[in-house]
This record gives sequence, structure tokens and C-alpha cells, in this order.
Amino acid sequence: MQAEFITVTPQYRKHIALIALNRPKELNALNLQLMGELRDALVALDEDDEVRVIVLTGNERAFAAGADIKQMAGKGAIDMAKVDQFSTWDKIKRTKKPLIAAVSGFALGGGCELAMTCDMIVASETAQFGQPEIKIGVMPGAGGTQRLTRAIGKARAMELVLTGKFISAQEALNWGLVNRVVPVEMYLQSAMELAAEIAQMSPIATQMAKESVNHAYESSLSEGLYFERKNFYLLFASEDQKEGMNAFIEKRQPDFKGK
Ligand code: HXC
Repeated sequence: MQAEFITVTPQYRKHIALIALNRPKELNALNLQLMGELRDALVALDEDDEVRVIVLTGNERAFAAGADIKQMAGKGAIDMAKVDQFSTWDKIKRTKKPLIAAVSGFALGGGCELAMTCDMIVASETAQFGQPEIKIGVMPGAGGTQRLTRAIGKARAMELVLTGKFISAQEALNWGLVNRVVPVEMYLQSAMELAAEIAQMSPIATQMAKESVNHAYESSLSEGLYFERKNFYLLFASEDQKEGMNAFIEKRQPDFKGK
């Protein structure tokens, strides 16, 4: 079915897919339909062997200004639990391929959480990040209290979550929330350049490396090291490992096939 609130370009560049959130009048507020469309697109792109890296973007004014307040305003706790929107977020989190957020303008509340669910963030100079839920009587619900704290530390995360204030792209860079900040006319291109660099690598190795880095969030050091080692061994079952190492020895560029 054709998506209404996102556009998907599976081969925007060689091996790179682009998903653009597309509810511009509502600053890409994340209603349930949009999130479902995003989940379905990511599942499909994960299964597409031609795609190695996925870039997720919004538009110049907004990456996403949060979950759709108008859709949530009248709901009760049981309604919210029944809808179980976080199973959608959990599925998005399980995307195997590297996911880069290209952020311009507002990345607030669920929008900031969505950017943080991605593996890397490229921001335009105009980007603003924040968790303003406290100002509307709630709190972050899609990982904001956890991912922000891990990314920028307790003191800063506590201030952002308790005051709801926004930070600039430059502050987000200084605090380790984003990978790079570029002029607004460059943010998508810069994300594409980063994606292109990664798309040259063995897709099997990038997926296992992503999985292993993410495991650092969820395990003790010794469990994480054990997990990393298993993935490292497993990569020696791939043709890409032979190709990569032989190419080095033969002083040529590797040609990775994802096998
Ligand atoms: C629904 C939203 C929205 C949102 C903006 N809009 N954000 N609609 N949900 N989160 C709508 C506005 O109602 C308005 O529609 C239109 O988008 C343009 O927004 P304006 O407010 O007119 O623009 P501006 O004055 O430039 O202010 C931009 C803004 C502000 C600072 C981003 O819109 C704002 O504060 N938005 C809410 C941010 C927020 O609180 N996010 C957290 C949501 S809770 P109309 O029809 O009036 O023109 C959340 C919880 C996540 O994310 C939990 C897990 C999923």
C-alpha cells in the first residue's frame, strides 16, 4: 500500500535508501499511521539486498516535532497501553542495517527519540533538539530518558528532560549527541556521504558491527565482549571477509557482495 506520511526511495544512491517523513504542515508530528508506515518501510528495506544503508530525514523546518499531541490529548492510560505504539518503536529499533538520521529544524520529544533510535545523526546548523514533554504534563516515552542520558550524561539529560528546553545543533555536537553539524543546504548531502562511505563496506560486517555496538547499551562489559567475539568469529564464515583481507594483501580495492 502507498504510504501517506512518508516517502521511500529504495535506491536514492547506490545501495542507499532514503526515507523522508512527510507531514510538513504538522511539522512531521509522529502520528500512529506515520510510525506504522515507517516501521513497514524499514522492514522492507531491511529485506532488500540492494540496500545497505538507510537515511531517515524530515524537511528543512522539522525532522519531527514529536508524537502527535492532538492524537494523544484525549486518551487515557488504558487506551495508550492498548494501542501499544511502542511495539512499533521496538521493531524500528531492531532494523539491522545502519540507519542515519539527517536532521534539520525541530527534533523534539518523539522526534528527538526517533533521531536517537538511529545509529548516527547528521545535523544542519538550524537543528534543535529537546525533550519538551514535561511542558505538556508528561515525560519522554520512547527512550528519551534512557538514550539521552547515555549520550550526553545525567546532568545535561536531567536538565533537558526537567526543563524541556531545546539545545542547538552545535551544543548537541559538543555534547556527543550528533556526529556532525553542517550548513543547512548540506545536511542531506553530508548524511549521504557518510552513508556512501559505509555502503562500500561488507554489508554483513556492518550489520554485525552495528549489532555489537548496540549491545554495549544492554550488557555488562564481559557480556558485551563475549557477544562481540561471537560476531567477530562469525564474519569469518563470509566471502566478504576473504575478499576484504585478500584485497588488502593484493593491494586493491575490495568488491564486497554481501555474502
Ligand atoms: C501535533 C503539532 C506538533 C505535535 C507541531 N504541531 N507540533 N501537532 N503534535 N507534536 C502542529 C501545530 O499544532 C501547528 O498546527 C503546526 O504543527 C505548526 O506548529 P506551530 O506551533 O504553529 O509552529 P511554531 O510556532 O514554529 O512552533 C514550533 C514548535 C511547536 C516549537 C515545534 O509546534 C511545538 O512546541 N510543538 C510541540 C512540541 C512538543 O511538545 N513535542 C513533544 C510531543 S509529546 P496548526 O494546525 O495549529 O497550524 C511526545 C511524546 C513522545 O513527543 C512519546 C513517545 C512516542
